[in-house]
Amino acid sequence: MVCCNDDPNPLVAGNGFRKLEAAGIEVVRHVLEEEGRELNRRFFTFMEQRRPYVILKWAESADGFMAPAAAGPYWLSTQPQNCLNHRWRTEEAAILVGSETFLKDKPSLTPRHYIGPAPQPIVLDRRGRLSDVPAHWLHLCCQTIPEVLQELYESKIQSVIVEGGRQVLDAFIACGLYDEVRILRSPQPLGSGLPAPEIPPIDSNHLIIIDP
Ligand SMILES: NC(=O)c1ccc[n+]([C@@H]2O[C@H](COP(=O)([O-])OP(=O)(O)OC[C@H]3O[C@@H](n4cnc5c(N)ncnc54)[C@H](OP(=O)(O)O)[C@@H]3O)[C@@H](O)[C@H]2O)c1
Repeated sequence: MVCCNDDPNPLVAGNGFRKLEAAGIEVVRHVLEEEGRELNRRFFTFMEQRRPYVILKWAESADGFMAPAAAGPYWLSTQPQNCLNHRWRTEEAAILVGSETFLKDKPSLTPRHYIGPAPQPIVLDRRGRLSDVPAHWLHLCCQTIPEVLQELYESKIQSVIVEGGRQVLDAFIACGLYDEVRILRSPQPLGSGLPAPEIPPIDSNHLIIIDP
């Protein structure tokens, strides 16, 4: 048997190997170790850093805005980008937005353009302003991003995709608590509005930019 990584959980590390070897099965460890860590990056982040793996995601117009100045519905992403975004949602345990996005967009945060499990929706509401948060959402009143991630860790949430808005993305960026950045770029300019964040420092293999 070949295996990429040892389990970082001290309660189980090595037990499986010992059982296999006791049964006469040769075990070859540390094969493609880096690739194994990348494949299981959510689990390793959760076990080693005691927080969920964090993906920052936003859509931006061709001229770098993430929302128009005027109120009202708007769409930045193309249909294929929407499908990809919804596939991304099915791959994470939770999805998180700020209270302003909740109030302005009334998002459902479901993966309705893709088939797969729905992530746990979360809204951050430090001042407790929101009264109509659906019962199945996590409605968090934590004051800081480290506190938010501690709460998610305690709820055994291994990964979260942060879908905005700008203030909440900035808060994760300011404390350096993110592992991946994904940007969907629209073919259309908006002319004015809420500027999208600057791309924060990130390894190139953890930055995905989808151009139209
Ligand atoms: N293009 C995109 O990908 C995209 C995605 C999402 C939203 N949007 C747009 O973005 C706009 C909303 O963005 P926004 O920047 O105004 O608001 P936001 O980031 O959605 O929400 C900001 C609010 O979140 C609450 N919050 C809770 N914890 C926080 C923390 N640790 N740090 C910062 N804020 C925290 C704060 O209110 P309390 O102090 O009351 O808690 C704050 O006012 C909307 O127009 C929406 O349409 C665009």
